[in-house]
Amino acid sequence: MNRCSTPMAASSTSDWRRLNQANWDERTAFHLGPRGYDLSSHRAGRGRLDAIVEAEIGDVSGLSILHLQCHLGDDSVALAQRGAKRVVGVDFSPPALAAARSLAAECGLTNARFVLSDVLAAPAVLPGEAGAFDLVFTSWGTICWLPDLEAWAAAIAFALRPGGALYFADMHPVARVFDDGGACADGFPGWRFPYFEPGPWRLDDPADYMDAEARLTNSLTVEFQHPLASILAALRGAGLGLDWLREHPCLVWKPFAGCLRDAQGLWTWPDRPWLPLALSLRAVKA
Ligand SMILES: C[S@@+](CC[C@H](N)C(=O)[O-])C[C@H]1O[C@@H](n2cnc3c(N)ncnc32)[C@H](O)[C@@H]1O
Repeated sequence: MNRCSTPMAASSTSDWRRLNQANWDERTAFHLGPRGYDLSSHRAGRGRLDAIVEAEIGDVSGLSILHLQCHLGDDSVALAQRGAKRVVGVDFSPPALAAARSLAAECGLTNARFVLSDVLAAPAVLPGEAGAFDLVFTSWGTICWLPDLEAWAAAIAFALRPGGALYFADMHPVARVFDDGGACADGFPGWRFPYFEPGPWRLDDPADYMDAEARLTNSLTVEFQHPLASILAALRGAGLGLDWLREHPCLVWKPFAGCLRDAQGLWTWPDRPWLPLALSLRAVKA
């Protein structure tokens, strides 16, 4: 296999929040533009969820839901439109939250609100909400931005009532080891960073995953690699027991150039399921 040019390990984590927030603030404008997120189903009254979440999330009617790293609020709105009693979205990007508030208002929702915060500081900004949620929902591009999974799991445990559940779906940590830099001739990916090295990894990428024409000025980000065992240990340490865990040979975005779209709109391997591309799990607070 090839070894692609690996990103440099950041010398410190001190600037991770500032760099990542600037990057997400800038991305938000592209995600609201013509090549951004398709919010038409939300505006029509029932926002689409991706095929993995749709199949796994179950009935959310009547639930109080905390949506961590809600971005434009599209999934928050979709959950509210499925009958959730209320949805609280948390994100640290002011333009993303402004977009989420405006989407919820446009959709006529009164059961969705949005709170500006670092996800790791959620307990501090939601002091009256300890144990107030039936479900914590977080999906697709979340923990790679967080240096501290123990604090992440503690925020989830803080928010959930006993018997409440976390639903988590994201790129599989094994798939994150690879990328197209140094890809093999047959379209298979090369190495990105080692599975067992947490980083921080400083990346410089002006591209956006939605808008192929976007060129980000705030292209520097700091990401973190969390192996599967670390995710499970953090949840267990915070008092959440695993209900189920699934590994999927498909993902909601195109991870590697050689991947193809399946009938459900997910991206998968062209021939055989070589590696897991997505991970989803449900964990319940004792
Ligand atoms: C890929 S999006 C989340 C996925 C969402 N389901 C989506 O596809 O739109 C990542 C989000 O995480 C937010 N984010 C990144 N780091 C964060 C942090 N430390 N605290 C709160 N939000 C953060 C970003 O602002 C962005 O809105």
